[in-house]
Amino acid sequence: MCGIMAYIGDKPAKNIVYNGLKRLEYRGYDSVGIATLGETLKVVKAVGDTSKLNLNLIDSRAKLAIGHTRWATHGEPSKNNAHPHTYGSITLVHNGIIENYETIKKTIKATDLKSQTDSEVLAALIDYYYQKSQDILEATRQALSEVKGTFGIALITKDNPEILIVARRGSPILIGIGNNQYFIASDQSAILDHTNQVIYLEDDQLAEIKPSSIDIYDLKLSVQDIDIKTLDNDSKNLDLGDYQNFLEKEIYEQPEALNNVMRGRVSSDGSIVLGGPNLTQADILNLKQILIIGCGSAYYAGYYGKYVLEKILNIPVSVEHASEFRYRYGAFNKENCLAIFISQSGETADTIASLREAKRRGLKTIGIVNSVGSTIAREVTHGGIYLHAGNESSVASTKAYSSMVVALLMLGGFMSYKQGKDSAICQNIASELLKLPNEIYLSLQLHSKITKLSKQITKFNDCFYLGRGVLYAVAQEGALKLSEVAQVHAQALPIGEIKHGPIALVDNNLLSVILLPEDNLLYNKGLSTLEEVKARNGQVLTISTRPKEPLSDFHLQLSHLGEFSDGLIYNVSLQLLTLELAKNKRLNIDRPRNLAKSVTVE
Ligand code: G6P
Repeated sequence: MCGIMAYIGDKPAKNIVYNGLKRLEYRGYDSVGIATLGETLKVVKAVGDTSKLNLNLIDSRAKLAIGHTRWATHGEPSKNNAHPHTYGSITLVHNGIIENYETIKKTIKATDLKSQTDSEVLAALIDYYYQKSQDILEATRQALSEVKGTFGIALITKDNPEILIVARRGSPILIGIGNNQYFIASDQSAILDHTNQVIYLEDDQLAEIKPSSIDIYDLKLSVQDIDIKTLDNDSKNLDLGDYQNFLEKEIYEQPEALNNVMRGRVSSDGSIVLGGPNLTQADILNLKQILIIGCGSAYYAGYYGKYVLEKILNIPVSVEHASEFRYRYGAFNKENCLAIFISQSGETADTIASLREAKRRGLKTIGIVNSVGSTIAREVTHGGIYLHAGNESSVASTKAYSSMVVALLMLGGFMSYKQGKDSAICQNIASELLKLPNEIYLSLQLHSKITKLSKQITKFNDCFYLGRGVLYAVAQEGALKLSEVAQVHAQALPIGEIKHGPIALVDNNLLSVILLPEDNLLYNKGLSTLEEVKARNGQVLTISTRPKEPLSDFHLQLSHLGEFSDGLIYNVSLQLLTLELAKNKRLNIDRPRNLAKSVTVE
């Protein structure tokens, strides 16, 4: 949700910042801008993505630059609203939301603003104090102490090309360290080509960075310790290779991603060992409730986990939208409740706020996170599971989603073993999981069949996705993918619910995608729904481990692995279907309209 990239050092900054912004575009791509500061300040902005910038308009020799790629919150995507914003002596890029910007605007009488953004008001406030003290660090500190809301910022003053100030509250900022150079970015993907040594700025910290030094302060200007971490990701999966888009590449990376999440954790002797969650056997034995909290695909991965964990652990599991949980004041038994936070980025604002709320209530918290060292990974109380899925660039999540589900399955097996349950449960999960990467690889071979199928169903603009149990969870994730990437209105329903209202919408123009399970009883129940929809002249695509039913209009047959993991095989077929539908409609596959991958504002 907005990407920030900045550089200060002994090399020309322009291309470093430009290339970093390209890597961050998945965070927002409404508009973009870069400011260079050499002998003079130069700013270039454009509506759209980085390819729209005329780089000839900025300084090629300047060794200080700040850049921004935007996902609009205040003000439409336009050149005026694009960052960097200059007010007086201050030029700034901002990620987040300044909630009290109207009050600030009136207090400092900022009447000559050029944009509709809260960010320009922040620049005006910092300038207001800077004009008084001529001390940029002090001016930023004063301004940030007054601000309500969230921010990750990088700012420069036109008077000094040797100082870069960065600060954060809520929106991520990390600082990469090179030789006489610093790389500032919203996430590691933008700097991995340059360094793997980083400092994660904490909330309410600001840093004064010069080409060969860095000092970090809190908002009282007390000096803070500097903790340098080493990133373990390499940059190999940041580029497209032979693929046309990252979505397809990342769908195809799933067998490898699943091997990575299981490496050293699932063994062929049927054991599952997780070193990350710091839960004692007593913690697990005493558990009375599990909450799973996330947003978007992470939430739907949690939904999959709910069905499996409830069944094997015999503990009630509820899945919560983070945007709801953060404002929910229900009763939770703090001694016996475990809250699991799932996030690819580890930086989603609502998930972080929910984590802090859960901690405030005294719950035990663990994370299932892809991005190493991210806020959620750092702030959970009882460790967690890193996904090791590698960089996921496409806005729509694919390999991270599958890895989240596998992490939950591993957690289930591990906890059931610690509960002293029949070890066969853990062994069954382990045995399915070990076969899963190859099964996913084989299901990718259905791609050409799915391409043909997609041509037959491109005409549908409305779809129901219907499933039961784990396949309802998969239906939810599939419907999300179809809406966001292929821009087809899709609604997921528990299969039994269709007759309680939604069936009123069924006609020849609506496609019902019915996910039929292997299980005999539930398969036959699903067939009744197929009959009900056909009786109302609806169109049906069945996806199942069994051959085509005579009544269904379209069919896709998948392989069967087992009750815990079949859902992920169904999910791959839905990913490929969405991909091909989006291709048929010539949509921007990696950057669907109006979306951003990492939603770091509320
Ligand atoms: C956004 C993305 C989704 C993602 C969700 C949660 O909405 O578009 O693809 O699932 O954020 O992101 P997280 O990084 O917390 O998993």
